[in-house]
Formats: sequence, structure tokens, C-alpha cells
Amino acid sequence: MRKSSSNSPGGSLKKAERFSSSGFILAAIGSSVGLGNMWKFPYITGEHGGAAFFLLFIVCLIAVGLPVLLAEMTIGRGGRGNAATSLFNLTGNKYWKWFGALSVLTAFLIMSYYAVVAGWTFQYTLDSLTGGLSHKGMDYEAHFNDFAGGLMPIFWQAAVMLISGYVVARGISGGIEKFNKILIPGFLIILLILMVRSLTLPGASAGVEFFLKPDFAKLDSESVLVALGHAFFSLSLGMGCMLTYGSYVKKEQSLGKATIAIGIGDLGYAFIAGLIIFPTVFSYGLQPDKGVGLAFMALPAAFSQMPFGAFFGGLFFILLAIAALTSAVSILEVPVAFAMTQWKWSRRKAAAIVASVCFVLGIPAALSVTGSLSGFLIFGKTVFDWFDFSTAYLLMPIGGLVVTLFTGYAWKRAGEEAGLTGFWYKAWMVTLRYVAPLLILVVLLYSLFVKPV
Ligand code: TRP
Repeated sequence: MRKSSSNSPGGSLKKAERFSSSGFILAAIGSSVGLGNMWKFPYITGEHGGAAFFLLFIVCLIAVGLPVLLAEMTIGRGGRGNAATSLFNLTGNKYWKWFGALSVLTAFLIMSYYAVVAGWTFQYTLDSLTGGLSHKGMDYEAHFNDFAGGLMPIFWQAAVMLISGYVVARGISGGIEKFNKILIPGFLIILLILMVRSLTLPGASAGVEFFLKPDFAKLDSESVLVALGHAFFSLSLGMGCMLTYGSYVKKEQSLGKATIAIGIGDLGYAFIAGLIIFPTVFSYGLQPDKGVGLAFMALPAAFSQMPFGAFFGGLFFILLAIAALTSAVSILEVPVAFAMTQWKWSRRKAAAIVASVCFVLGIPAALSVTGSLSGFLIFGKTVFDWFDFSTAYLLMPIGGLVVTLFTGYAWKRAGEEAGLTGFWYKAWMVTLRYVAPLLILVVLLYSLFVKPV
């Protein structure tokens, strides 16, 4: 375990936990690559017309996502604190602490529904491997609805909380870093096996074409908002997650290079996920616009017809489970780091309490997908949808806005900490001062007033 001493002002980490350089990159990629890449990205791409949407997503990721990512990590390393204390440490202005409170709330809400979907992947892994998903004439939609409406998702959600709580309790280098160092390379191997399998299926080219041959007529103004929102979600931005990870980065590490590595990692995994999912779906004559059910309804149907489908299906859901777990750990770390400095809790106590609270909050989310609470609507949305909507379209944009404004206007020495000078510094500042806040504001106003629910 490598440790260096802390020289930061008040409210910072007691024992100065640190990532190794490669450990940080892997952990950050682990955070960004998640259900967002493997489950959400394919279905929103499917719903918004394929390749043109993918291009738009790339533009949003590079033009807005990466500058904000760099800003978050820079604030974390410069301030050496959690989502609340870092901003305070850098300016001495106590009002910035509200950002921390907001981040903690966002983290609880995201974790509560994220763990539900992560839990589904556990059940689907087991079912695939034991042949439970390959009965002849099986109705995959009904199967999913039955399963998601029962009590098993709550059991699996508890398992997700236990695993991620345990990893977070073990600390940065001994827990989070180690976990990602094992899982992320394993992840890449499984991903490549599945990519080769799907690209060699008969009729795979129709799927590749859908994913990579753009038809711009399919885009509308809403696609831009969805793409931008997803760029944020996919890079784990807008809730102090990358800020918190950034606070454990060594001074010598280049944050600019880390930003590029994480960007390539996130985009690369989304790209390969698309190359797995669309060829498979098209090859078996299924539709790519199945929405939330794409991974859990259309894909099992495809795997069931494939030779050795139980094996490939099992691999696919293991992949999803790994992606989800390495992200869940990073979400959990935000309130844990907060509780450790704010209330001086030990890491283990903080991890246990935060994971338990998220578990309880997640129960109504789990029951509201197709279960007993699915008819309980608040302004037309289920509890599960509210968790998703309120975080992705309201709280995360607000969090992103705080980060851009803080780095662009309030903190004068961000360029120094980020290691940017000349053209890159200017481009970064123009993005943080004008481009990013404007775009984020549009997303926020749109979701508040144009299409509130
Ligand atoms: N980026 C992850 C994904 O793509 C999810 C995630 C992890 C996240 N940490 C986050 C989303 C922080 C928003 C904020 O699935």
C-alpha cells in the first residue's frame, strides 16, 4: 500500500489515502464504464435512430463531458477533500459546501436504482448459465416482468450493496483500486470474446450498419439533450464522484492524460457494447428500440437461439454485472467520503451505514418496475423512473453547473492544478465559462418546463 502525507487545509482526509497512477486510471474507467455503457447507451441509441445519435454522443462527450471531467478531478486533487470540503478548501467560502450536500443526495438516489438493475444482472447470469433462459418458445418479456415484479430483485440488490459496501470499506488502495485492477482487464477479455461472436453471426452486418451508418434525419432536439445527459451519466459527472476519486490522486499524475484515457476507455467500451448488442439483435430479427428491456428481453431471446447460447449469454450478463459493480463502488464512495470527514466516522462504519440506507431506499425502486408498486405513480412516473429522472435530468445537471462555474469563475488557480497552459487552458476556460453552462442550462430548463415528466 502506498501512502503519502497530506498537506491540505482543514476538513481533509485523515490518513491521506492515495491511488497508484495506473490504479487511478483503472478505477476511474471502472466508474465510468457501467450499466450506462452496456445497458442504457445501446437502448437510447436504438430509440434515437442509431449511428447519428452515436456521433452526437461522441461530440457531447468530447466537447462538454471531458472538460467537466477534468474540472471535477482538478477540484478534488486541489482541494483534497470530499465533494463538499474540496470546494471550501479552495476558496474558503462556506456556501460551496451545499454542493457537497447535493452530491450526497444524488449519490443516494442513483445508487438506489442502480443497484436494482445491477441485481437483475446477477439473476440473469445465473439463469443463463443454468439454461433457465433457453426454454423453447419462451416469452422473454413476460419472464422479465414476472421476475422484476417478484421479491428476488430485492435479494440481489442486497447482494450488490454488500459487495460494494465491502469493497469501499476496505479503502482506496486495498479495496477500490484492487477490485478494479482485477475486474477491468477481465472485463475487456470477455468483451472481446463477445464482440467476435456477435460480429460473426449470420446477418450481423445489418446491426453494424444500424449502429455505424448515420441517418441525420432521425435526430431531433430531444436527441441532443439525451446525448448530453448521457455523456454526463456515462462519465460519472455531476455528483462529485470523479471529484472524490480525484482527491486520492497523487500530485505527480497528469490529470490531462487521465482525462484522455478515461474518455477513450468510456467511449471504447460503449463502442464495443454497441458492436455486441446490435449485430446480435439484428441477426435474430429482433428490434433495437425495445427501450429498457433491450438487454433483458431482446438479448436473452437472441442468445437462446445461438449455438452455446447459454455460455455466451452467461458471459454477457457477467460483463454487465462487473460493469455495474465497479461503478456502484464509485457512487457509494461519495457519501462515504463525506461522512468520514463530516462526522468523523470510520470508513467501515460509513460504508456499512451508507450501504444500508441505500438498500432501504432501493426497495421501493425495485418494487416499482413491474411489481406491487408499479401502479403507484407520482406525476405519471414510478418511483424507479423518478430516481432516474430526478438524478439524470435535474440533480446531475445542477451539479455539473456548479462544477463548471466554480472552475471557470470562482477558483483562480484551476489551470495550474490541471497542468494546462496556453491554447488548452483557454479552450478549457471557454468551455467551462460559456459552452458547458449554457448547454447544461438548456437541458435543465427543457426537462423542467418543456417535458417535465
Ligand atoms: N458512469 C456509470 C455508468 O455509465 C454510472 C455512474 C457511476 C455514475 N458513478 C456515477 C453516474 C456518478 C452518475 C454519477 O453506468
